[in-house]
Amino acid sequence: MKQQPKSSFADAVRALKEGELVAFPTETVYGLGADAQNEKALKRLFALKGRPISHPVIVHLSCFEQLDSWCKLVPEEAKLLAKEFWPGPLTLILSRSKKALNLVTGGQDSVGIRIPGHPIAQELLRLFGDGVAAPSANKFGRISPTSADHVVSDLGNSVKVILDGGNCQIGIESTIVDLSGSSPKILRPGMIGVERIAQVLGLKNTAELDSAENVPRVPGSMPSHYAPRTPLKIVSTEEIDRLASSSNIDAINEPISVLSFQRAPSLLGDRVSQWVKAKADPIDYARDLYKNLRILDASGSRLLLVEAPPDTLNWCAIKDRLMRAANQG
Ligand code: TXA
Ligand code: MG
Repeated sequence: MKQQPKSSFADAVRALKEGELVAFPTETVYGLGADAQNEKALKRLFALKGRPISHPVIVHLSCFEQLDSWCKLVPEEAKLLAKEFWPGPLTLILSRSKKALNLVTGGQDSVGIRIPGHPIAQELLRLFGDGVAAPSANKFGRISPTSADHVVSDLGNSVKVILDGGNCQIGIESTIVDLSGSSPKILRPGMIGVERIAQVLGLKNTAELDSAENVPRVPGSMPSHYAPRTPLKIVSTEEIDRLASSSNIDAINEPISVLSFQRAPSLLGDRVSQWVKAKADPIDYARDLYKNLRILDASGSRLLLVEAPPDTLNWCAIKDRLMRAANQG
């Protein structure tokens, strides 16, 4: 892989001000940033990602005081959630102000706002001084990047500045809560779970946060998002057990790769290109998820098999990403 020269905050801020794109780490995934008030930069962003311009992007801010200028009003729920989770892995959808361009909002009445906690993201946003529009720094519909190397391998040298913050701590995208409608709804599950959101909002029942309409208003809610190139299938633990018995492994007729909670069987056979042992804790699993999917995807196999995680709420965001990765329609 081609080595990128190390970039400084000064390079990054200058690039943003000149309408260039900057990739930077957040605690969830790497973002591809553009000055949120610069139409040319935003168009460049959509073109590089290969993302349809009707899909809204999140505006990243450094502090709560900047919020007022981006939305019409800051509802009480936003204050409660911000106090608890910002800076952090949470995005709020709020009614937009005029400052939020159509290119940012996808022409909707709302704008997505996040104050990330990663120190590099924080410093970049503080120095830049206003909103940075940033989707994940990958090609549209593909696996989000959780390291600077992932960004380079997805977007190559088209990004002028990449700030390298090592591996992302959380590893999957932020929880999105829509506060622009009559009641709060979760549009995308994340590592801040539905129970925590309900608790902070004083809701008795987490079902109140379920998004009723499943309209693909956000790309993250489209079935084929976060997909590796190789077809992916989620399989039961029993299926992994059967597969792991040597006679069955010998019978496989096309190369597969596996992400399983179990260790690789000692006799793998040459039909298994890659067997990655997943972490048993959802926080650790999420941190490695996209890196692991990339390893499986690069193994040259024809099918990726992923052992289904437990059916409990703390695995909900991970299962959401796995289901989308499996659904390549
Ligand atoms: O963790 C994250 O959220 C990362 C980091 C870089 O902040 N960003 C990210 O961006 O995942 P992106 O563009 O890959 O996904 C953002 C999601 C999309 O599904 C987008 O449609 C949705 O947020 N979104 C943004 N503004 C919205 C709005 N006004 N209404 C509904 N959905 C919105
Ligand atoms: Mg994305």
